[in-house]
Amino acid sequence: MRVLSGIQPSGNLHIGNYFGMMKRMIEYQENNELFCFLVNYHALTSVFDGDALRQRTFEAACDFLALGLDPNKSVFWVQSDVPEVTELTWLLSNVTGMGLLERCHSYKDKMAKGIPASHGLFSYPVLMAADILLFGGEKVPVGKDQKQHLEVARDIALRFNHTYGETFVIPEPDIAEDVAMVPGIDGQKMSKSYDNTIEIFADEKSLREKIMRIKTDSTPVDQPKPIEDNILFDIYCLFLDQKGREDLKDRFLTPGLKYGEVKKELFAVIWEYFAPYRQKREQLVKDRATVLEVLRQGAQKARQVAAVYLEKARHNVGLDYWN
Ligand code: ADP
Ligand code: TRP
Repeated sequence: MRVLSGIQPSGNLHIGNYFGMMKRMIEYQENNELFCFLVNYHALTSVFDGDALRQRTFEAACDFLALGLDPNKSVFWVQSDVPEVTELTWLLSNVTGMGLLERCHSYKDKMAKGIPASHGLFSYPVLMAADILLFGGEKVPVGKDQKQHLEVARDIALRFNHTYGETFVIPEPDIAEDVAMVPGIDGQKMSKSYDNTIEIFADEKSLREKIMRIKTDSTPVDQPKPIEDNILFDIYCLFLDQKGREDLKDRFLTPGLKYGEVKKELFAVIWEYFAPYRQKREQLVKDRATVLEVLRQGAQKARQVAAVYLEKARHNVGLDYWN
């Protein structure tokens, strides 16, 4: 099965990204053909500082590799190193109805807040569809927030195939229920855009501060604590197995539990959980040439696959006038 997904290098990666997408991608590399990329063209919709984008792209690559993405078992590249994707975006644009894009949340939310949306943001889902279709992605692991974008990608693929004949694989979203929407420390979806993240590779002090800031209710210490919609409980559970979750639930339901103590404990658990990856990441950041070489080779492999799908699409729409 060809499993494919991308992530924006638009800020420091967080545990929502990790559990919703990265960890699952890394697990898939064992028994699938894994295609994984950093979508820096997409990041241009929100990052307007060239130095920042360069830096974040390199760091996101180090994050993924440190967390266990193995370039020998996967194809890993930076989106803009395969610029064919922008050509395909144009071909897809002409079978994409305006209404389909007007219904998309990312664009609608901005407009509702009175923030002027760019054409890039409006057509973001078409570029994302191109990312998937250009490589014949069959299964796409994402968090729940991307469900609508995946539906758009499927619609576009179906419409293209219907108009021009069988060209693209129809992709399937892969959303894991238990990690579909990791809450941020304020209870909204954890997101780079909301200052509510727990970063995977935060330093000790800022990680501790973030955990201490997790919003909790005001249930008195001598009362059982609710576990429904309890942000602290939900975040802690991400790091526990089934037995650990049952034990934590019992502790919450037993009077006497202090949220402050649970937070200190959670800090230690998260710090420990990412410790081996942190070391690996430090090495990678220093070994810049190796990381760049991995990305270069990844792009080379990705381009070979892209060429086949793009050629077929160019032919089916009739761009090869010489034939
Ligand atoms: P962000 O919203 O932080 O900018 P991205 O849009 O770059 O994150 O998302 C990258 C991947 O991580 C996507 O597959 C997305 O669905 C997933 N993801 C992001 N935030 C969460 C979350 N809070 N819970 C689960 N998955 C998430
Ligand atoms: N839009 C996705 C996000 O914001 C990132 C993305 C771009 C993506 N292209 C993709 C995800 C292709 C899966 C497949 O998270």
